[in-house]
Amino acid sequence: MAAARGIAAVAAALMVVVAALAPAARGVDRSEFPPEFLFGAATSAYQIEGAYLEDGKSLCNWDVFTHTHVGIKDGRNGDVADDHYHRYMGDVEILQSLGVNAYRFSISWARILPRGRLGGVNPDGIAFYNRLIDALLQKGIQPFVTLHHFDMPHELEVRHVGWLGAGIREEFEHYADVCFRAFGDRVRFWTTFNEPNLFTKFQYMLGAYPPSHCSAPFGTCNSGDSQREPYAAAHNIIMSHAAAVRNYKENYQAKQGGSIGIVIAMKWYEPLTNTTEDILAARRAQSFELEWFLDPIFFGDYPSHMREILRSNLPTFTSEEKKLLQYKSDFIGLNLYTAIYAKDCIHSPCDLSTYEGNALVFATGERDGVMIGGDTALGGFYVVPQAVEPAIMYVNQRYKDTPVYVSENGYSQWSDVGREELINDVERLNYLQGYVTHLSRAIRNGADVRGYFVWTLMDNFEWTFGYTVRFGLYHVDFDTPERTRTPRMSARWYRSFLTGSSAGALTDEAQQGRRADS
Ligand code: BGC
Repeated sequence: MAAARGIAAVAAALMVVVAALAPAARGVDRSEFPPEFLFGAATSAYQIEGAYLEDGKSLCNWDVFTHTHVGIKDGRNGDVADDHYHRYMGDVEILQSLGVNAYRFSISWARILPRGRLGGVNPDGIAFYNRLIDALLQKGIQPFVTLHHFDMPHELEVRHVGWLGAGIREEFEHYADVCFRAFGDRVRFWTTFNEPNLFTKFQYMLGAYPPSHCSAPFGTCNSGDSQREPYAAAHNIIMSHAAAVRNYKENYQAKQGGSIGIVIAMKWYEPLTNTTEDILAARRAQSFELEWFLDPIFFGDYPSHMREILRSNLPTFTSEEKKLLQYKSDFIGLNLYTAIYAKDCIHSPCDLSTYEGNALVFATGERDGVMIGGDTALGGFYVVPQAVEPAIMYVNQRYKDTPVYVSENGYSQWSDVGREELINDVERLNYLQGYVTHLSRAIRNGADVRGYFVWTLMDNFEWTFGYTVRFGLYHVDFDTPERTRTPRMSARWYRSFLTGSSAGALTDEAQQGRRADS
């Protein structure tokens, strides 16, 4: 009797999986994308590696911030995180079982150059990424490598106040050079920075990320100037990017055959109403979000919208700097999760102490009581798959002949919703399927997009949210020493989309992820 009940329960669970997969399989097909299109998953060093003081790594800014600051929702840190540093081999096997042909990860600067350019290169740090890159390539997975994903050696943050001091440019150029030399014979895709347009605001406008600078009305910090510092930091980042691109192009690209770009956080801004004011507000918001970095990188100067509003708070490029900006990036990575309405704040009063405040724009998910898309755990990350096409087309048209990669796209859940809902993540599956469907439509309509990465391979340290928010294709049990990985329904969907194989195919991967590989 009990056995029969057990069989019935398993059959019912399977039917749920199959029912959830069936529309996915019908909705979009891998064959709609070119064979060389990159399909992958993304992670970043601080969010997954752990081993925070092992094998010669120094403290990074996030190590110190999480240990000394009250700004993390669950008070936790990345000391162990997913323990990927020891379990990377199992994670590579998971990637292989998903059927991806690319993996986007970042290098921990503090692992490679614990003391920056004035100290030596850490051979154990180099060895770790060599092992990871070689393991990926053996499985036919292209490494898509980010040099900077929010973390830097703490010593450099202290010395240069993060990105505020011009001395950080030489530091980054040196770090990039060490990486090109050590790994460039095998890496075809380099990105210098992940979301500099977002992290500079979190660091120097809102004060939420280290080194926690801000001023009123944006927040209360020990020091900072929210109207000026984000732009000063951005200027150093743009020039650090340009210096790394020049070095790569002049000294490495011809013999190594790779490409180099930058990843920007992009939201699609829809005007709240069809008034000219709101249409211009949406345009302005995009200038302050995307063009802030991409216009200098592709056209050599900041957009005029920004200059008109920010005036002397926006730095100017010297003629030397403009010369360096002539080395063109090969591609643009877009982290594309959502869309939001833009409301004009020049002609009507609004709260300007927000992410879009300096653009004189107020962003909202609601129009006449109706939300722009479904909710997710993280505020402002609405489910708006139809935003993919206009967003990519906009970037294609503005930065002509520059291929685009969707370098992140994903769905967040709260950690406390219960295991059943966490694993049978129908909402994430629908989210990913919806975005991939619209991506294929965009390609059919002529978009030049070459790859797509799910954020993220497995649950991890979600910055100021700690472990309270989950984005993974794999569930991670942070209460077990082995950080057990379990494939979600969305992982099964991704695999069935990529490989055409059946729903049950990922059952063993939790075992594989359990292996320790140090
Ligand atoms: C970042 C990731 C982050 C994700 C979800 C992106 O802004 O690149 O590091 O975990 O979004 O918040």
